[in-house]
Amino acid sequence: MDTSGFKTVRFSRTTITELMIPSYANFGGKIHGGILLSLMDKVAYVCAAKHAGTYCVTASIDHVDFLQPIEVGELVSLKASVNYVGKTSLIVGIRITSENVKTQAVKHTNTSYFTMVAKDDNHKNIPVPGLILESADEVRRFVEALRRKELKKQHKEVTKQVKTPMEIDACKQLLQNEHCLVKI
Ligand SMILES: CC(C)(COP(=O)(O)OP(=O)(O)OC[C@H]1O[C@@H](n2cnc3c(N)ncnc32)[C@H](O)[C@@H]1OP(=O)(O)O)[C@@H](O)C(=O)NCCC(=O)NCCS
Repeated sequence: MDTSGFKTVRFSRTTITELMIPSYANFGGKIHGGILLSLMDKVAYVCAAKHAGTYCVTASIDHVDFLQPIEVGELVSLKASVNYVGKTSLIVGIRITSENVKTQAVKHTNTSYFTMVAKDDNHKNIPVPGLILESADEVRRFVEALRRKELKKQHKEVTKQVKTPMEIDACKQLLQNEHCLVKI
């Protein structure tokens, strides 16, 4: 089998571990969501750029739920791997866990999928190498990404309806049981 123009998943697999220091905390004493987003973007970039062999940009994130709060002093690990490759884009799956070093308790805080697009020196989108799938898990993740991509396309079409104009009386009717006061 000719594998030129293809790379394995393990070639670009990346893990970043970062200590959560006090300056990362919000007013409630928990780690600020923006700190995690920044770390996620960083690990996604490293993984994507290694696979693509070039500069990449973040096109889209699906999606971010913060499942559990993270405390100051915990060690946050972000594991990233290329799950799917298209023509100029690739999808990086990121799993985040946080460890309490004293108790060694590890919690899963979120899993997200970053779509990254490869760019040349003139900021033009360029093709990325194909992906060599070497395990059943890698095949499963590629198939799941394909399905997610299709669902995202359908969701985009459906959500266009949200912007369909509505008469004010119909809006008032819809908002009757909502937590708001309409003063017009
Ligand atoms: C995202 C961007 C690369 C899309 O490029 P484009 O030329 O407009 O779009 P195209 O339709 O040709 O899409 C290029 C690829 O990206 C994918 N893509 C584009 N937008 C996407 C989205 N919102 N979600 C998922 N995939 C997306 C396309 O499916 C396509 O993939 P493929 O080549 O593997 O088939 C371009 O808009 C861009 O450079 N945006 C700025 C990115 C940036 O600055 N990021 C940092 C954010 S702070």
